[in-house]
Amino acid sequence: MKSKRAPKRAELLRINRFLSMCGVASRRKAEDLLREGRVIVNGRKVSELATRIDPSRDQVFVDGKQITRVHDPVYLVLNKPKDTITTVKDERGRATVMDLVRTRDRVYPIGRLDRNTTGVLLLTNDGDFAHHLMHPRFQIPKAYHVVCDAPVTTADMRQLTEGVILEDGTTAPASLTVIPRTRGKEIGITIHEGRNRQVRRMFEHLGYEVVKLDRVAYGPVTKTGLPRGATRRLTHHELRELKRLAGFED
Ligand code: URA
Repeated sequence: MKSKRAPKRAELLRINRFLSMCGVASRRKAEDLLREGRVIVNGRKVSELATRIDPSRDQVFVDGKQITRVHDPVYLVLNKPKDTITTVKDERGRATVMDLVRTRDRVYPIGRLDRNTTGVLLLTNDGDFAHHLMHPRFQIPKAYHVVCDAPVTTADMRQLTEGVILEDGTTAPASLTVIPRTRGKEIGITIHEGRNRQVRRMFEHLGYEVVKLDRVAYGPVTKTGLPRGATRRLTHHELRELKRLAGFED
């Protein structure tokens, strides 16, 4: 039997978010549709941008056409193996991360990991959310395990922490730890930026070769218990925390 309970606030979506999830328009353009009086909810014109709707009950029309959700948002984490390319399709036919993701949903990677970097890679079909996570304003912490070809000196550790001058600017402060019993060759580093090949370039700048690079965490999401090459859905807790870090509101 269908429950008659009122929906919880968390189940309601901002109308512009709903319209963007249905592929009608970006969130910003959806606000224009509201302002222009083109959106009708349950028979009433809606222009208030903060309006929230219940997608399972409310009837939404834009320009007289009923809007239905094409797909539910999907949020996955893949434990990426080596030798896979972070792209949806590779023109040269090389193995991509998409070969490992078994879902009919049209997800795509959030950001990228180098071909030989392993570990936490998020995927989604939620464009707004992906955009927020990648925006430099929301500095989501990303933690890496780096294996170097030589022990990292204390002076270099300090420099990596404070910032390294790369060709696209000085890196923001990072936190570092030496992994015990590795004679200083293995380092844990957490950065808040997402520049191309950033971690490798930081170490290479100081004369080290990065032998292995593994992303162990992206914000609250880790690969603990997830075998290489496997995917799982994010938990509610992980998703809530990521949304909070990315200043993202449904
Ligand atoms: N930094 C790198 O150098 N490579 C990655 O894949 C991710 C971060």
